[in-house]
This record gives sequence, structure tokens and C-alpha cells, in this order.
Amino acid sequence: MYKRILLKLSGESLVGDKGFGIDPEMIMHYAQEIKELVAHDIEIAIVIGGGNIFRGLQAGPNGIARVQGDYMGMLATCINGMALQSVLESVGVYTRLISAIEMREIAEPYIRRKAIRHLEKGRVVIFTAGTGSPYFTTDSAAALRANEIKADVLLKGTRVDGIYDKDPEKHDDAEKFDAITFMEVIEKNLKVMDMTAFTLCNENDMPVVVMDIHEKGNILKLINGENIGTTVTR
Ligand code: GTP
Repeated sequence: MYKRILLKLSGESLVGDKGFGIDPEMIMHYAQEIKELVAHDIEIAIVIGGGNIFRGLQAGPNGIARVQGDYMGMLATCINGMALQSVLESVGVYTRLISAIEMREIAEPYIRRKAIRHLEKGRVVIFTAGTGSPYFTTDSAAALRANEIKADVLLKGTRVDGIYDKDPEKHDDAEKFDAITFMEVIEKNLKVMDMTAFTLCNENDMPVVVMDIHEKGNILKLINGENIGTTVTR
């Protein structure tokens, strides 16, 4: 169904069962899932978050200025990206690490056409440092990069298996949507992504799939046309 995907991985889910940092089992799980996709000739770009290490929103209460906190969060995504690159390489996947904040010793600078070239050559591209600007979330970076690289879909990996009418972790009677429009998400006031990310996808007709990526093989099932997660389209 999809040839080129932008996979948004949350930093928080990298924590796994640990309270902080990177759970080796979780990052290996991600790497194996990605490897499986590469084996099926899917072009994969990843935008990774940094919430397992530092989130911009933590800044205020800690006496750190918001802008400074956002940059700290961006650096956290670089740490995760480096870890993911290493683990992917350990299972034989070719990767290129790209940072929106220049730090050439560890990552390539972001050049859109070069990133696309890497994808065409079958390399997994890991985008780090968000958009490179404060006030933007990793979801916004994912929406931006998905559009820039002309991905067929933005897959938002979460620990819930889709979008529900109410929080499924709090309400037993929450009902899941298989498909929904951007407009309905707004009308029903559902939380999918922040407004900036959401608008970028809506205006540019970029489908978003919210899905559980802790379940082994789920992304491949989705790509093979199985009814996985919730698809948001225009
Ligand atoms: P093609 O030549 O187009 O196939 O791409 P390539 O990525 O193989 O070529 P390039 O010579 O650009 O990169 C060779 C290696 O150096 C790759 O592992 C890149 O990720 C890495 N690399 C390229 N530019 C940078 C940079 O600015 N910083 C860092 N840290 N690594 C870089």
C-alpha cells in the first residue's frame, strides 16, 4: 500500500520498562521491525522524539527557559537517533543519520534532496533534532519531513492501537475509529497530534496512521493492507 513511509517514533516509548533512558529490548524491537520493512523494499524515514531523556515542556518547572528546554529536547532526539542508528547497523541495516542542528561530527546536515537520494538507495534515514527550531514538537518535525520527502504516509507509532472517541486507558467503553477525516478529528476534539503537525498534514493531504508499534509485525501488516490502527485522511 505504501512505498515510502515516515515513521514517527516517540522517545518515551524507548524507555520500555525502565524509568529513564533507552531500554535495549525496546530499541532492538524497533530495529527488527524496521529491518523487516527494508527487506520488503519499503523506503523508511524515521523521526525520533526525545521524551525519554528530556522534553521541552519540562523546562519551565525546572527553572529553564522554554526555548532552551526545546533545544535540550532536540539534543535528546539526537542521542536516541544515534542509538537507533547503531542498533540498526548491528542488525545489518544501512542507515544515514541526519540532524536539523548542524553537528557534522555525528550526523549529516539536513539537505532534502540528499535525504531523498538516501531513501532511493534503500538506506534508512533517521531525522534528528526535530525541525531545528524551538516551539515545534517532534510530531511537527514528522509532518514537515513527511511532506518534504513526499512520503506516502506518516505513521505515528504509539502504545495504543489507534484513535478512540475517548481515552481507552481510562474508559472501558472507548470505541476505536478505523478511519476518520481530519475534519472529524477537529470536530470531535480528538487528540492525534498537535495543531501545527495536524494542519501541515491536512493542508498537504498527507495521510496519518496512528498505530501500536509495540506489537510485532504490525507495520508490515498495515502496509500489506490489513486493518491496523486508525487512518486519518482528508
Ligand atoms: P552517496 O554517495 O550519494 O551514495 O551517499 P553517501 O552517504 O554514501 O556518501 P557520502 O560521501 O555523502 O557519505 C559517506 C559517509 O559519510 C556516510 O556514512 C554518511 O552518513 C557520512 N557523512 C556524510 N556527510 C557527513 C557529515 O556531514 N557528517 C557526518 N558525521 N557524516 C557524514
